[in-house]
Amino acid sequence: MDRTLKISKIKDGTVIDHIPAGKALKVLNIINIGENNSISIGIKVPSNKMREKDVIKIENRFLEKIELDKIAMIAPNASISIIKNYDIIEKFSVDLPQKIIGILKCNNQNCITNAGEPVNSEFNLVSSNPLTVKCVYCKREMADNEIINNL
Ligand SMILES: Nc1ncnc2c1ncn2[C@@H]1O[C@H](COP(=O)(O)OP(=O)(O)OP(=O)(O)O)[C@@H](O)[C@H]1O
Ligand SMILES: [Mg+2]
Ligand SMILES: [Zn+2]
Repeated sequence: MDRTLKISKIKDGTVIDHIPAGKALKVLNIINIGENNSISIGIKVPSNKMREKDVIKIENRFLEKIELDKIAMIAPNASISIIKNYDIIEKFSVDLPQKIIGILKCNNQNCITNAGEPVNSEFNLVSSNPLTVKCVYCKREMADNEIINNL
């Protein structure tokens, strides 16, 4: 008896693989899903590389730079596979940017970037593990979940 349950392949779209176990829903939160974007999610599935991982497969959707940068902050070791006609035509790892501009809200309510002024938020990467960034304007440091909750 076959005891495995396989998710069917996607024809065209994106696979986000090697997401830390339990973080898939956080990743989904930052992606806008349209009408013809079918999604399959594996949560806490066994993996050779990580023991357990999450994986997301999105049909008919290719990610933008801003989405890839956000994914890097949630899942620094995620790998992205671009699928065309059932084959992987491109595969790459996400990359943490040294400067994070306009995509993360500063946790300091008194920061100039939260004052309704036309100022883009801007952070420098302080450390990648544990993930820590520092606001260029108010110097507030943010880490891990604080970052994820402000994406
Ligand atoms: N047509 C497809 N539809 C859905 N998922 C696919 C398709 N083709 C590949 N994948 C998935 O894309 C990911 C990367 O595929 P690949 O064959 O490179 O995996 P791998 O050999 O396990 O590599 P890795 O070392 O990254 O784990 C895997 O999760 C695989 O299941
Ligand atoms: Mg694999
Ligand atoms: Zn700030």
